[in-house]
Amino acid sequence: MQENLFDIMSTMRAMRRLKPDPVPDDLVERILRAGQAAPNGGNMQEWGVLVIRDEAVKQQVQVVYQRAYDEYIGKGYASRLASMPEGEERDRYARQVDAVEHLTRNYHKAPVWLVACLRVGPQGANAMSGGSIYPAVQNMLLAARALGLGATLTTRHMIFGDEVDAILGLPEGVKSFAILPMGYPEGRFGPVSRAPLETFAHREKWGAPFSADA
Ligand SMILES: Cc1cc2nc3c(=O)[nH]c(=O)nc-3n(C[C@H](O)[C@H](O)[C@H](O)COP(=O)(O)O)c2cc1C
Repeated sequence: MQENLFDIMSTMRAMRRLKPDPVPDDLVERILRAGQAAPNGGNMQEWGVLVIRDEAVKQQVQVVYQRAYDEYIGKGYASRLASMPEGEERDRYARQVDAVEHLTRNYHKAPVWLVACLRVGPQGANAMSGGSIYPAVQNMLLAARALGLGATLTTRHMIFGDEVDAILGLPEGVKSFAILPMGYPEGRFGPVSRAPLETFAHREKWGAPFSADA
């Protein structure tokens, strides 16, 4: 159990290699409560999380997730990799691609999935819809990390979203926005890799770097 929120946030990497050991329901419940504490538009709570352990359902979705990789996502990874010069950055990217492909092949083997859903109604999702579900997703990822569980925020299934939502048996007007395959991680948690703060934070004017001592 990790207590420090800042440590948790800075070490919450996508954990794509998971052990098969089951994740007990009491931990899942704590994670779900953390998700439910998240902000959401007007506190309308048009959300829901489907907890899936059913091997057959996960396997059917994995086939779609794999297809989305083969037909779309994988090509982008391959061409970026091919264009990179040899070196540390390329090696790091190659390791990421390796992990992404591992998760793609083993998506269904994660002991539990949390599928974050939102009731979008007959008009479907709009540009603001995600704002009412991704805070809950982030809370659940942080809670999982705090409990020593690994997970990845995945949305690739949305390329074939209607097909996946039918497999999941979601009612009309309810759409899945993220699938979090979750389990005890094979590797260790470590710091996330991000560009320097100056590329992220600007003071007063875009392009003027923020720094606490400026
Ligand atoms: C909106 C969104 C969708 C994502 N979808 C996927 C996905 O479908 N599959 C996957 O393996 N990772 C997915 N990721 C994880 C990112 O690839 C990951 O966060 C990023 O590479 C940074 O790595 P880190 O979180 O380990 O630091 C997604 C992340 C976000 C924010």
